[in-house]
Amino acid sequence: MDRLLIQGGTPLCGEIAISGAKNAALPILCACLLTSEPLQLSNVPQLRDISTMLRLIEQMGVEVSPDGSNGLVLDSKGLNNPLAPYDMVKTMRASILVLGPLLARHGEARVSLPGGCAIGARPVEQHIRGLQAMGAEITVEHGYIQAKAGAGRLKGACIVTDMVTVTGTENLMMAAVLAEGETIIENAAREPEVVDLANCLVSMGAQISGAGTDKIRIRGVERLHGARHAIMADRIETGTYLCAAAATGGSIRLTGTSAAYLDAVVDKLLDTGCDIVIEREAITLNAPQKLRAVSIRTSPYPAFPTDMQAQFMAINCIAEGSAVIRETIFENRFMHAVELIRMGADIRIDASNAMVTGVERLDGATVMATDLRASASLVIAGLVAQGETVIDRIYHLDRGYERIEEKLGQLGAHVRRVR
Ligand code: EPU
Repeated sequence: MDRLLIQGGTPLCGEIAISGAKNAALPILCACLLTSEPLQLSNVPQLRDISTMLRLIEQMGVEVSPDGSNGLVLDSKGLNNPLAPYDMVKTMRASILVLGPLLARHGEARVSLPGGCAIGARPVEQHIRGLQAMGAEITVEHGYIQAKAGAGRLKGACIVTDMVTVTGTENLMMAAVLAEGETIIENAAREPEVVDLANCLVSMGAQISGAGTDKIRIRGVERLHGARHAIMADRIETGTYLCAAAATGGSIRLTGTSAAYLDAVVDKLLDTGCDIVIEREAITLNAPQKLRAVSIRTSPYPAFPTDMQAQFMAINCIAEGSAVIRETIFENRFMHAVELIRMGADIRIDASNAMVTGVERLDGATVMATDLRASASLVIAGLVAQGETVIDRIYHLDRGYERIEEKLGQLGAHVRRVR
């Protein structure tokens, strides 16, 4: 299993380009299932989760061809196997995103029920309930969701989700674009990735309004056509590199990205004492001598993202003062804390609150990555720590950070992958 060796203590300096967003690309790959014409995508990040999703749709009959660097053409005219097997779903929960499009275009689907994962139970009953409201007949048997579109075509419905769910909103939106009549999703997720998916669907001929608000209206159409779409920049990758530069006392410029979706993160970085300059498609950060600890509370967009919580915990570990981190989205998303403590951090966990008091320095240690964003916080801690840090199980990182050791190397970090 690959490990990452980090020799800490070098401030990150320089410029790198940010990749396409994993969490926008994953639903958009599934959107190809909604049409028999080719969907041409650019700025697709090369990540483990993306190759898992491509394998999943390929075994359904989708033809995938590369298109220049970071481009793909997806052709699902030969779609013949509406099945998402357990082996694939268990490695990537986002596989559930095939359910809505398969039902909408193919009229049936068999998708393994995702189990829990390292960060929490993560049930999908909102996806199922919404599809049932649209007339789908759904049973769960032997660990599989068996779904059929009632009288051949789904019907528009008014759906109010019990909580804000990102992939739930995306699944229902994709189901609704080919349904008969109008669907309204209330309490919809407002995440920028939902908007990117809606933009892609609209360029395929869908009629959607309100994406980016908590009420999305979709008027179903008979069929969608092929389209071209460029995946938005990854706001979490952007935030992660900003945090890494801040923690190491560095100075970096990130290109091919936008601060437009990062208000909550940028505000907190300003509170730590960083200087930030925003351009239309670039962000520059200069870190102060010593960071100030900042309290955060995770919430759905536009509030502070749960996917940036672990990285800010790493910052607080070496900042001046104490801060409270409150995680409200997932019930088990502090797994990185125990590893950070092994590096000398002062963190006390009480249910969904973590009290972090900054220490003078962290020490390199062997630590274990437990999930994607937890791994990112360990990388940041390793970059700051004195001596060598070895991060085990970095396949988690490869799920969501494209060429991470190469990008960190470009910024002057001493990072090496060993097999
Ligand atoms: N929830 C339910 N029932 C449902 C759906 C969700 O109880 O039917 C709960 C979840 O258990 C959680 C909350 O609602 O407590 C929000 O979960 P959500 O459905 O929004 O999460 P998700 O769609 O599974 C996406 C991202 C995650 C990100 C969350 C929150 C993708 C592929 N994944 O997950 O990204 O943390 O939204 O913003 O978009 C990551 O990239 O590292 C990652 C975990």
